[in-house]
Amino acid sequence: MNAMRVLVFGASGDQGAAQVRRLRLHGHRAVAVTRNPQYRGDGLRAPVAGTGETVYADYRQPQSLSRAIAETRPQAIFLNLPSTSFQAAAPLLQAAEEIARASARTPGVQSLVFNTSMIVHDQPLGFAAHDARLEMRRRIMAAAPAVSIQPVIYLDNLLRAWALPTLLGEGVIRYPHAEELEVCWIAQDDVADLMIAAMTRPDLAGRSITVGGPEAVRGPDLARRLGAAIGRALRFESEPVTEFAARMGRLFEAGASLESRRLSAQLARIYQWYNSAPSRPFYVDMKPVLEVLPVALTSVEQWARRQTWP
Ligand SMILES: NC(=O)c1ccc[n+]([C@@H]2O[C@H](COP(=O)([O-])OP(=O)(O)OC[C@H]3O[C@@H](n4cnc5c(N)ncnc54)[C@H](OP(=O)(O)O)[C@@H]3O)[C@@H](O)[C@H]2O)c1
Repeated sequence: MNAMRVLVFGASGDQGAAQVRRLRLHGHRAVAVTRNPQYRGDGLRAPVAGTGETVYADYRQPQSLSRAIAETRPQAIFLNLPSTSFQAAAPLLQAAEEIARASARTPGVQSLVFNTSMIVHDQPLGFAAHDARLEMRRRIMAAAPAVSIQPVIYLDNLLRAWALPTLLGEGVIRYPHAEELEVCWIAQDDVADLMIAAMTRPDLAGRSITVGGPEAVRGPDLARRLGAAIGRALRFESEPVTEFAARMGRLFEAGASLESRRLSAQLARIYQWYNSAPSRPFYVDMKPVLEVLPVALTSVEQWARRQTWP
């Protein structure tokens, strides 16, 4: 495969950083979009010194988005957008549309890959965060040939500040999933690899592809398998969704532009739906996906061994 020059929006975030890292590993050139002049696009959590190429753009300044695309002349664009759970969606909807328009009119751009970062169904579900992603996807697809990669849930969530201390300190994976819920946890690196595979397939334009890990795992099995892989006794605890939502609301309160109590209620509603929807939102049959995007998916054990555990 020829090396491609790829512009990564959200490159300093967890998901974008994995994409920068994997692009480099596959021999491509990544240009990291950031508002942070100290970030050097090494695929590490910002800010770090390094040698990566970066370009400035801010979702709240539409001209900066088209300028970044025009100046860097990428062959592909990876689009990761921040959460709309605790922020107003309108500026990000506008940014998504602007990026898609600029992608379509800039010579040399062969593909736009939108990481929805979450499950997106084909109709509104009445959950603000979901419906905003659906609208982003609609606007992007209307403005440019694009493919949408839709990860159900990241294994890497277990490393975040809202999950890791309990895992390490108490030996508990406390998560707002019912014990019986079947979940196809996927590694961020695998989503990056699926996006890399998608960027070389312009024929996939217009497709929305839901992606998950190689198998469905219930919470207690996740704890047992992860514990065995890292040599610690772990157990699973199903956290009531209202407690989880209130906890997340408190965590994100400082940076939220929306009223956090109302947004916590939204978060609780969507997690209740995740747990009870007959459509099994976290379950994905990856066989047909891998026929189109051939990627080696990571098991829970492989993922666990690749992390540094304190
Ligand atoms: N499915 C799952 O399991 C899962 C897990 C985690 C997250 N998510 C979802 O993934 C999405 C993103 O997650 P997150 O918000 O936690 O992302 P994050 O990892 O905190 O990254 C945010 C990124 O967005 C960039 N950014 C933020 N505001 C910007 C602006 N105005 N202009 C340009 N860039 C901007 C930041 O870049 P700079 O600061 O460098 O400019 C940073 O790279 C959310 O919708 C979240 O719900 C899903």
